[in-house]
Amino acid sequence: MNTELPEPTPEELAHSERLSALIREEIAAAGPMPFSRFMERCLYAPGLGYYSAGKWKLGAAGDFVTAPELGALFARCVARAVAPALRACGESAVFFELGGGSGAFARDCLLQLQALDASPSRYWLLEPSADLRERQRARLRDALPPERFARVEWLDRPPQQAWTGVLFANEVLDALPVTRFAIAHGGVFEEHVALNHAGDPRQAFMRVDRPADALVAGAVRHVESQLGAFADGYRSETLPQLPWWIEALTQNLQRGAALFVDYGYPRREFYLPERRDGTLVCHYRHRAHGDPLRYPGLQDITAFVDFTALAEAGEACGFERVAYASQASFLIASGLEAVFAEGYAASDDEVARYALGNEVKRLTLPGEMGERFQAMLFARGLDAPESFAPLVDADRSGRL
Ligand SMILES: C[S@@+](CC[C@H](N)C(=O)[O-])C[C@H]1O[C@@H](n2cnc3c(N)ncnc32)[C@H](O)[C@@H]1O
Repeated sequence: MNTELPEPTPEELAHSERLSALIREEIAAAGPMPFSRFMERCLYAPGLGYYSAGKWKLGAAGDFVTAPELGALFARCVARAVAPALRACGESAVFFELGGGSGAFARDCLLQLQALDASPSRYWLLEPSADLRERQRARLRDALPPERFARVEWLDRPPQQAWTGVLFANEVLDALPVTRFAIAHGGVFEEHVALNHAGDPRQAFMRVDRPADALVAGAVRHVESQLGAFADGYRSETLPQLPWWIEALTQNLQRGAALFVDYGYPRREFYLPERRDGTLVCHYRHRAHGDPLRYPGLQDITAFVDFTALAEAGEACGFERVAYASQASFLIASGLEAVFAEGYAASDDEVARYALGNEVKRLTLPGEMGERFQAMLFARGLDAPESFAPLVDADRSGRL
């Protein structure tokens, strides 16, 4: 991976140093920090973390582009996929989006649901970043008719009351703080971040491995029970908290569906023997690299998703798994062709039509997002074949 990164501005470096100082204080007081805590600080420390500070990260001017930022096709397809479930849930159905980014998805999805006569009674957004919450509010206030905007509500925590409807998350699982583990002498170790007293003063932190606790060791041994023992020196990631995270979000969902889209692999591809340093990737101004200790707060840190773990977590929470498919298959089964044709007919110039064609390519080609991104759909209390027939046909759960 290319580690030649553009030099941050003096202001950016000062910002990063403020966050580094906080992390250093915590390590000085409590000892080496689990990598998951370091990642959580780097992404979400109030006012300083990558997602919590005011830097614009999404889109061409930022560090990476997500599917809803490419145009409206992705959100329109998701809206078509879940419209039958929202209708089946009745008038009080809610659409609950996690991590709404710039608000582009919410805008396009709400407008499409309205066109499909499947508007939810409420559109909830759970967004940990105060900065992104404000961007979402401004964007949706400008883009939606007032009566639609009035239905949008920002939650501070998972819903505490009973609800029905659809939970949706695009590229949120990859932003959850991951636990990094390493295997040494047959034992499981957890990667921690310690102070680097020697070495380059610009590299304030270093990684150290400590014996894993029962939760982390249990998660790693569970994977080994399916795939065989990892070799000494193998390092990767796991999300031992995933089942509890999903449970917290959906424990009051009486009836409905949960749809997750993200980059990832089924377990046996995630933990390929040759992938000896995991799947962690950092993004800084459209460059991907592998050093999470660089520039705390200035770069995104993310890991691929183990979709087998997601399937296990969803089922442990009492969901029926309806479909697991590549993003390309998911979008095609959700009506991409019709959505494209509608957009094409509505475009009044060649530039817009060309952009629409390009968007389809970015969303579906194997070398772009088409195969690297996958979708997993769960249902609870719904007649899945009736609500999601085309997606049931696209299911490739055999890969898990
Ligand atoms: C990579 S961005 C994706 C944004 C948007 N979904 C999109 O596709 O453009 C990750 C988003 O997830 C949010 N996020 C991170 N952890 C979260 C959590 N535990 N619950 C809800 N949202 C979270 C981030 O603040 C950010 O909005």
